[in-house]
Amino acid sequence: MYSEADLNSIDITAAPPLEEPQRQYYFIAKCREWLNEKKKKNGTLPKACVVNMGCQMNARDSEKLEGILKAIGYELTSQEDADFLLMNTCTVRENANLKVYGRLGQLKRQKQTHPDMMIALCGCMMQESLVVEKICESYRHVDILFGTHNVFKLAELLYKRIQPNTGMVIDIWEGTDEIVEDLPSERKYSFKCGVNIMFGCNNFCSYCIVPYVRGRERSRQPEDILAEIRALAASGVTEVMLLGQNVNSYGKTLPEPISFAELLRRVEKIEKIRRIRFMTSHPKDLSNELIEVMASSEKICRHLHLPMQSGSSKVLKDMNRRYTKEDYLALVERIRSAIPDISLTTDIIVGFPTETEEDFEETMDVVRRVRFDSAFTFLYSRRTGTPAASMQPAADESQVKERFDRLLCEVQKIARDTCSRYEGQVMEVLVEGPDEQAPGALTGRLSNNLLVHFPGSADLIGTYRMVRLSEAKGFYYMGELA
Ligand code: 5AD
Ligand code: SF4
Repeated sequence: MYSEADLNSIDITAAPPLEEPQRQYYFIAKCREWLNEKKKKNGTLPKACVVNMGCQMNARDSEKLEGILKAIGYELTSQEDADFLLMNTCTVRENANLKVYGRLGQLKRQKQTHPDMMIALCGCMMQESLVVEKICESYRHVDILFGTHNVFKLAELLYKRIQPNTGMVIDIWEGTDEIVEDLPSERKYSFKCGVNIMFGCNNFCSYCIVPYVRGRERSRQPEDILAEIRALAASGVTEVMLLGQNVNSYGKTLPEPISFAELLRRVEKIEKIRRIRFMTSHPKDLSNELIEVMASSEKICRHLHLPMQSGSSKVLKDMNRRYTKEDYLALVERIRSAIPDISLTTDIIVGFPTETEEDFEETMDVVRRVRFDSAFTFLYSRRTGTPAASMQPAADESQVKERFDRLLCEVQKIARDTCSRYEGQVMEVLVEGPDEQAPGALTGRLSNNLLVHFPGSADLIGTYRMVRLSEAKGFYYMGELA
C-alpha cells in the first residue's frame, strides 16, 4: 500500500523506475521538490482543484487525482481559481461537452491575469479524437490533457509539463490491460468510499459512447479488491460502494473466473464493513445467485439501480440492450418477491431515434407497473461514432420534449408516493454530514438510499443511528433521533 514514507526514501537524482507504481511515486517526489521551490519563492501554499463532471466512476477517479495532487504538496480546494485546475470530464451526453468548452473560454481570460495557473483536462471526453483536435486548435491555454486509462500518470505528466520549453502535454491511450494499484487517494468521506471492481464496458448499447471512451471490460483481481476494502475498513470506512459500468458481469473475463455474487459474499465477511452498495447493474446479467445473496445479506443495502432505458421491446432491441419489456418486468418481479423492501431506481432515455408515440407509451406502462422509487430521465443525445447516431429520428424535437415532460411528471408523482411508504417508522441511517439547508441539523442515508434530515450534533457524523422518519417530503424525510 502507498504511504508517505515511500516518497521520502526515493532517490530523485536517479533515472525513473520503469515499473508501476514505483515510477509514479518517483514523479510525485520530483513534482513535490518543484512545488516546494515554488512555495518558498512565492511564500504561499499552491492550491489545486479537481472538478468532477461525471458519474461515480469519475468521482472515484477524482479522489485518486486529488490524492496524487495532495501527495505532491498542493492544498486541495473547491475554488476553481486555483493554481492547478483539473477538470475530470464526462461525455455521455452532448451538453456535458458544451459545458467544458464554455468553461475553457472563461478560463482563457482567467489565465491571462494568472499566467502561472495550470489547466488540465482528463476523463471520458478526452478519449474522443475530435475533442482533442478542437482543444489543440482553439484552447491553447490548456496545459495537460489525458484520458481515462492513465489517470495514475498525473504526476509524470505534470513533471513533463514543467520542463523548459514544453507546450501542451497530451497523453491519451486507446485502451489498456494495465490496472495500476496502490496510488494515493484523497477520500471525500472518512467513513464511506467507492471501490472500483472493474473498468470499461463490453455491451455496446447503440446510443452509448462509454465502450469507446472507457475501453473493454477489465475486472480487478478479487484479492486486490478485498485487500483494498480491508485497508479501508482498518482506516474507519464502514460503507463501500463497488463500482463498475456493469458490475453483474464482474469476474467473467478473469483467468480464474468468479461471479459478482461470490465477490459480494467475500466482501461481506470483512468484519468492520457494515454496508455494501454497488453500481451499475445491467438487467441482462443480473443473476438469481445475486438476488439470493442480496436477500440473505445483512450488509448489502436495500437498493438496486437497474437501468431500463426504454419500456418498448422494439426500442430495446434497437438499443442493443438484449432484454425485452417482459424480461425486465419478470426480473423486477423476481427481485421484489425475494427482497420485498428493496428500493428500485432506474435510468430512462426519451427520444431514442426509433421511438414512436406507441413505444413511449410502453415506457410509461412499465413506469406505472414497476413504480420506481426514483428514475433518472434523459433526453436522447446523439453521440458521434455510436450506431444510433446514423438512425433517422422518428419524432421531432418538440414531440420528444413533450414526452420527456410527461414522463418526468409521472415518475415524480410515483416516486413521491413510494418514498413516503416508510413514514412513521424507525430506521437506521449512516450519518453523512451536516444538513446543508439547516444549521444544527444532520443528513443521514437509509439503506434504501433515501436521505433523512434531523436535528443532531456534528459528533454523530460517520456513525449509525436509529431515526424516526417523521415526515415524508417527497424524495427525502424529515426525522428525529429515536
Ligand atoms: N443519450 C442520453 N442518455 C444517455 N445515457 C447514456 N448514453 C446516452 C445518450 N447518448 C444515459 C443512460 C445511462 C446513463 C448513465 O446515461 O440512461 O444509463
Ligand atoms: Fe453504456 Fe450500455 Fe455499457 Fe451502460 S451498459 S456503459 S449504457 S454501453
